[in-house]
Amino acid sequence: MIQTHFICDGAAQFLPKNLYETENARVQKCWHQLTGQTGKGNDFLGWLELPETMEMQLPKIKEVAQRLAGCSEVVVVIGIGGSYLGARAVIEALQSHFRMLENDRKSPIVLFAGNNMSEDYLFDLKNILDKKEYSIIVISKSGTTTEPAIAFRIFKEHCEKKYGKAEACKRIVAITDKARGALKQLATQEGYDTFVIEDNVGGRYSVLSPVGLLPIAAAGYDISHILEGAQRMKEWLYNHNGTADNPAMQYAIIRNYLYNKGKKIELMVAYEPRLYYFIEWYKQLFGESEGKENKGIFPAGCVFSTDLHSLGQYVQEGERMLFETVISVEKSHHTLPIPFDEQNIDKLNYLQQKKIQEINQTAETGTRMAHIDGGVPNLRITIPEICEETLGELIYFFEFSCALGGYLLDINPFDQPGVEAYKKNMFRLLGKE
Ligand code: PA5
Repeated sequence: MIQTHFICDGAAQFLPKNLYETENARVQKCWHQLTGQTGKGNDFLGWLELPETMEMQLPKIKEVAQRLAGCSEVVVVIGIGGSYLGARAVIEALQSHFRMLENDRKSPIVLFAGNNMSEDYLFDLKNILDKKEYSIIVISKSGTTTEPAIAFRIFKEHCEKKYGKAEACKRIVAITDKARGALKQLATQEGYDTFVIEDNVGGRYSVLSPVGLLPIAAAGYDISHILEGAQRMKEWLYNHNGTADNPAMQYAIIRNYLYNKGKKIELMVAYEPRLYYFIEWYKQLFGESEGKENKGIFPAGCVFSTDLHSLGQYVQEGERMLFETVISVEKSHHTLPIPFDEQNIDKLNYLQQKKIQEINQTAETGTRMAHIDGGVPNLRITIPEICEETLGELIYFFEFSCALGGYLLDINPFDQPGVEAYKKNMFRLLGKE
């Protein structure tokens, strides 16, 4: 039984009563295209099978992760877009918010590079690495992306100077195409440990491949449980091919309906700041998959209640082109009651002994009611707690829903032709041959 549930009662008043019935045939067709691998971009559907196919690679991934962790205080993950966000989403969701400052860490801190071209960012990281034992996981499917290539050139040189060439080669692991690209060539020449990104797995659908799993394992988390969660979600979504009980179909239909009614922006919301990067991952997944041919919902994100004090005003009363989807977490990992205070100057004694999580959930309920009243349809995806298994479920759920959503829009959800435009200009301006 899956632990993730899709709840749409907060959108009911914005939807026709029989939406699932009227859209069932259309979304079923998309489901068949996806699971039967006959739709657009069907040479990029390797991600559908990753929960099973990765099983065989787990021992090697875990072994390499342990080796890196054993010799490193810091593991630097170099990559951008789909070669970065999935690992960061999961690691940040699982780790303590203040892990950097904890002295009793049992596994290395994972830091990220190659996801921007800020000179100061790279400089600051280099300074840190002067003083830390570290290793590098460099990830690029094409092996030619500029941002990670620049970062890798800098940190490869730094690593070789710090540890000597032979030792540096053991501290660097490459994840790239099996045959093509500069990174593959370099990895073969230098003898790095290497993992392959299969041809049929696109960047933003690769978190359940070594691209996500190796950094997550190096950070000390249980990647078997992530795959188990994903596999459970896969079985559910494959075994239920009707709108009555397939949450990905339900989510895809409602998004599509709201989009056609002028709700052009989906606000993905979490009330747990540790899901900030999960929302970043969602934004890339849906933005690159749906945003083409002048179509697609714009994926935005917020962490509440933080952003209720910034964007909350707009959500409540600004232009009515939004709907929101909340990743709702039932349990916190820890409890912290509000203490009683004799003087009660702050007038908070009415919350005495209430858990913060309860207050957070009440904020969620109150916000939901206010936003619905304000004309913002509210969808909810609930999980009992944030852990490896539920994150595995969520990842597969969103990937599957995104693919279905792309087919409902009649676009190819697995290419990204628009990403090339800025690169062409940049290369021309830089004088690249
Ligand atoms: O989803 C995608 O395909 C992209 O976001 C890529 O992951 C990103 O551009 C990085 O590409 P590469 O892994 O080839 O360096």
